[in-house]
Amino acid sequence: MKAVLCINYGLPDTLVLQDTATPSIKDDEVLIAVKACGVNFPDALIIQNKYQFKPPLPFAPGGEVSGIVIATGAGVTHIKTGDRVLALCGWGGFAEEVAVDAKRVFPIPPDMDFITAASTLYNYGTSYHALKDRAGLKAGETLLVMGAAGGVGIAAVELGKLMGATVIAAASSDDKLMLCKEKGAEYLINYSTEDLRSRIKEITGDKGVDLIYDPVGGKLAEQALRSIAWKGRYLIVGFASGEIPQLPFNLALLKGCSVMGVFWGSFAEKEPKQSLQNLGELLQWLRAGKIKQPIHKIYRLEEAAQAVDDIMNRKVIGKAIVKVGDWNEDASQYTIPNEKNINTETKQTGSSKPLLINGLADITNHVGKSVGPSEWLTVSQEMINNFASATLDFQWVHVDVEKVKAILPGGKTIAHGYLSMSLVSQFFYQLITIENVNSFYNYGINKARFITPVTVGSRIRLQANFTGAEKQPNGSVKIFLTCIIELEDADKPAYVADLISLVV
Ligand SMILES: NC(=O)c1ccc[n+]([C@@H]2O[C@H](COP(=O)([O-])OP(=O)(O)OC[C@H]3O[C@@H](n4cnc5c(N)ncnc54)[C@H](OP(=O)(O)O)[C@@H]3O)[C@@H](O)[C@H]2O)c1
Repeated sequence: MKAVLCINYGLPDTLVLQDTATPSIKDDEVLIAVKACGVNFPDALIIQNKYQFKPPLPFAPGGEVSGIVIATGAGVTHIKTGDRVLALCGWGGFAEEVAVDAKRVFPIPPDMDFITAASTLYNYGTSYHALKDRAGLKAGETLLVMGAAGGVGIAAVELGKLMGATVIAAASSDDKLMLCKEKGAEYLINYSTEDLRSRIKEITGDKGVDLIYDPVGGKLAEQALRSIAWKGRYLIVGFASGEIPQLPFNLALLKGCSVMGVFWGSFAEKEPKQSLQNLGELLQWLRAGKIKQPIHKIYRLEEAAQAVDDIMNRKVIGKAIVKVGDWNEDASQYTIPNEKNINTETKQTGSSKPLLINGLADITNHVGKSVGPSEWLTVSQEMINNFASATLDFQWVHVDVEKVKAILPGGKTIAHGYLSMSLVSQFFYQLITIENVNSFYNYGINKARFITPVTVGSRIRLQANFTGAEKQPNGSVKIFLTCIIELEDADKPAYVADLISLVV
């Protein structure tokens, strides 16, 4: 199997994609064919030997996966081969297969996709445990979240709001803060440009903030603690800044406050019943649409090192995900239209409303969504002829109707592959509406594969998955869509490709 391995400790550029042996499983373990793996800050620490867990070299990082169980140990009873699951494996997830202790493996509901399953529980589990079990957050309290657009930070913003707190989000850029606002933060502090203490004073008056959620540490921690309310609580969640702050104890005395640690991994191990209760509550909120992890970008397995590097360089807004394998491009993963599985109305008209994106800041909210199907479009001989004229490609299989009738089985001309590919743009306009931006245009096509020939008179349509958004240095945003052009009455698509568009 393929895996991205840490062979020697170092920065992400030392990770290598290699063929390696499939892991063997013990009696209490299961083997999972990985579909997606969440990328978390500890992945950056574990490869530098700076994390509390130290797996023996070589190992694959990646602590949170979703996938399908392909083998179970003799002692495993609650999970069986074929189950769709998520697993908090700790490491090993940047690989095609991972062996995990069955206690850390949970079946996923049929309506939950693999990306959601691999991106939610680690961050929301941590933040829910922190806010609920450690701090006992009450409705009406003020909650300051540092690093608020990071993985655990944005979960704390959304959960804090859901639990009735007034959320103050603090982060290093306005883009990051826009996402926090969308997730319910009432007040925003850009700590790169604003003074944290005076802004908190402005927002809370002399009272200060009731609860501080801090996954960043560093220089700003003392400023935050100095802004805490009488009997406030300070949650120590992590040190993404790389600096463990040395806080003066007298501050805790003066404020009558509690400084409390949060260690979700140990909580889940030492208090499994409470942890399962929390996960159950989160799952219900997830299914009810009350919480949703915003996805920054979906990386391929060979790009896993880049994903960890992006986390380390503060480029990730929300969550980064590594998709393992080409399952989006596997026709069997999609409902391929044929007489058996589409009703007449859908077949005639297509079925979905356009996805509405409101401005540049809204784009990342839609990453991970599916769009489509579009309307069906019939490929006519006139279109094929026009395309031949435009490209000077007059091969007889495309344009010589009589010869094709006489020679080709089925007797129908075949559209140029690039013709059906170029139709993606107009399908795109049907499926996605982008408002409040200057303009957007289709920028390129990546990884195109032509699978089934499109003959004249066939009907094609588009299904797509919105897989990523990448902010460009000039402020524009590149968006990535995995596109499947379906061919009516065929059991495989006409082609699949990744579309890249630029929104300005
Ligand atoms: N205690 C637990 O149980 C637990 C569980 C999960 C995670 N954690 C810890 O929580 C921290 C955050 O994890 P995460 O997965 O949410 O990470 P993340 O998505 O990368 O978010 C971390 C945030 O920290 C800020 N930051 C400030 N200085 C940074 C630097 N030098 N490098 C990177 N980020 C920096 C960034 O926000 P700005 O750019 O806005 O400052 C970033 O968005 C990590 O230390 C992780 O180990 C703890």
